[in-house]
Amino acid sequence: MPTLPGRYIWVLAGCVAAGLVARPLALAHIPITTTVEFNREVIRILERRCLSCHGNTGAAMSLATYDEARPWAEAIKEEVLARRMPPWRPVRGYGHFLNDNSLSDHELAYLVSWAEGGAPEGATAAARASAVHDDHRLAGDAVLNAEAVEVPAYSSPFERMLLIDPETTEDRWFDRIQWDPGDPSVVESAFVFVEPSGQWVGTWLPWSEHAVRPIGTGYFLPAGSTMRVEVRYRGGEDDRVDAGALVLDFAEEPPIPMRQLEIAGALGPAGGAGLWRGELMLAESVRIFALRPEISEGAESLEIRALLPDGASRVLLWMLADRADSQAGYVLAEPLILPAGTRLILAVHHVGAPPAGVPRVLVSAY
Ligand code: HEC
Repeated sequence: MPTLPGRYIWVLAGCVAAGLVARPLALAHIPITTTVEFNREVIRILERRCLSCHGNTGAAMSLATYDEARPWAEAIKEEVLARRMPPWRPVRGYGHFLNDNSLSDHELAYLVSWAEGGAPEGATAAARASAVHDDHRLAGDAVLNAEAVEVPAYSSPFERMLLIDPETTEDRWFDRIQWDPGDPSVVESAFVFVEPSGQWVGTWLPWSEHAVRPIGTGYFLPAGSTMRVEVRYRGGEDDRVDAGALVLDFAEEPPIPMRQLEIAGALGPAGGAGLWRGELMLAESVRIFALRPEISEGAESLEIRALLPDGASRVLLWMLADRADSQAGYVLAEPLILPAGTRLILAVHHVGAPPAGVPRVLVSAY
């Protein structure tokens, strides 16, 4: 039997001493104390909740394979326990939202158990569809191309306002609107408005691409309108160019019009205490479909409450708004009917210097 030359053993021992092969050895020493495996449970949760941003062309580091995710196991545990990841600001238990991307308690328990239990890989997974955007562009009655935006590698988040001319010479209605980013790997969010009315009509987020709207409703597009798209970018690993497009489907019959209500905040009587309040009295009954807070950085929390004429009170949205990405636009799981005489109360708590802009909430209703 050939013996292993002595110097091989020395070389190996030297590597171990120098920590050069520390990773596999260190792993071998971690006892596996969980039945949760990466290739069985974890990857499914990551696909559903994380890979829209942490895929191999996503806006953040890839967690798409075991080798990529394993070094992050401890960080994943910390981020999900603190509910910082996935980024979703509304406090759980106050309102149900259609575009809720937060982890269920069940999903969270799986991820934590996996990370604490030695982060095992499990049997090799069958090839899985990754969250890579295919090159397929959306089709519609009108596909309006936006100007291209250069997104340099590693640039920190920045916003661009894109103006698009829908070339409507007469009043129109549309019942579908969708933003189709050219390069979703560098797009954090996009919001679409009709100008000059300022009506918010659509949102694109990495995990919810489709604009949802109650059946039978539509948006009014007066002749001569302009579409304004606010896109938030963040640089990837190399220089990119994003050329998005706005896709519209026009409606034949005037459908039920979607409207916009607005609650604007003002600095409370305590002046400078950092509490902004706003109120809107509903003159007629409406169905509330979605809420979009617009608050500047530095806001700590935001609450929107409905005070019904019979005295009942109900929180529509409560969120801890410690980061700029809070402005997702929240679509109610079920449109909420509020009677005339209801007061919508906004409270925004701010720390430090007064915010640059007045906080307000756009309420999409019909
Ligand atoms: C909407 C996009 C998005 C989604 C969805 C998302 N992340 Fe992130 N994540 C980011 C970005 C961007 C960063 C970069 C750091 C930052 O801005 O906080 C990040 C950072 C991280 C980090 C590193 C934090 C550190 O230590 O710096 C971890 C770990 C992480 N995410 C885990 C997850 C997990 C697990 C999920 C799903 C349960 C998830 N993320 C979902 C965007 C996302």
